[in-house]
Amino acid sequence: MQTIRQLKPLRKAIAALKAQGGKVAFVPTMGALHAGHMALVEEAKRRAEHVVASIFVNPKQFGPNEDLSAYPRRAAKDSAMLSEAGVAVLWMPEVEVMYPAGHATNVSVIGVSDGLDGAARPGHFDGVATVVAKLFNQVRPDIALFGEKDFQQLAVIRRMVADLDFGIEIVGVPTEREEDGLALSSRNVYLTEEERLQARALPRALGAAATAIEGGGDVADALAKAEASLLESGFQSVDYVALCDAATLQPVTALTQPSRLLAAARIGAARLIDNVPVMPK
Ligand code: PAJ
Repeated sequence: MQTIRQLKPLRKAIAALKAQGGKVAFVPTMGALHAGHMALVEEAKRRAEHVVASIFVNPKQFGPNEDLSAYPRRAAKDSAMLSEAGVAVLWMPEVEVMYPAGHATNVSVIGVSDGLDGAARPGHFDGVATVVAKLFNQVRPDIALFGEKDFQQLAVIRRMVADLDFGIEIVGVPTEREEDGLALSSRNVYLTEEERLQARALPRALGAAATAIEGGGDVADALAKAEASLLESGFQSVDYVALCDAATLQPVTALTQPSRLLAAARIGAARLIDNVPVMPK
């Protein structure tokens, strides 16, 4: 695996891969890799001859009071994991390489970015869309893979790629979970042992609400019950529990189309997000 930190050598390495023939699949990450990230790499290997991964903790997608400085950084271990998995190129730019002085362009995807995490974290999805647009132009892959764990992010990227004619196939990969259902996340390291146990309430509450709604239960009632059960289980606050159209993420009040149940809640120093599909019969 080649680890590259500057744009010129990146272009050369990608050109060399393309010259060998076959497709290039791209897995963008912020590092602190776990089995969820590696599931994206495995899916990338199934779909393309060459896999490129990136690690870049993107300051533009963190709010002023968020965890940018605390975000876990483990470059040596990450790079060993990616190399072992068969990644050909690891793109690991410094902030100055990604955002040279004078950088003034933002990508803003309206509509799908507005609610849910977009409302709770102002500017977050502009930061994500901007860095992913830059990463796509830097790497120029045929395919790029994103986790359903960050379901709104996946919807934002799909919209951006369609609107800006990137011509990149976007693949969504199902969420990898711990045995007790908690979605794997780099932010789970913020949890104490007790909070880690309490955090199981998040996938459980979503599962129970999804079952109730699919069984014909009232949507508002199921959402309210899920929120109450999170607060009872040790979460300090709930940013949202919402049922949304699976493509546009507009709120859904009755289950007539493929939908997604999404939640974000705070426990200790962590803000956890999760989501599950909800399908009409
Ligand atoms: P990061 O949080 O490192 O996640 C990188 C990719 O891994 C994302 O596509 C995310 O959805 C996926 N992922 C995380 N946990 C997962 C899990 N448990 N199961 C499956 N996939 C999972 O998301 C970002 O970084 C950034 O916003 C990024 C897209 C890199 C832009 O900076």
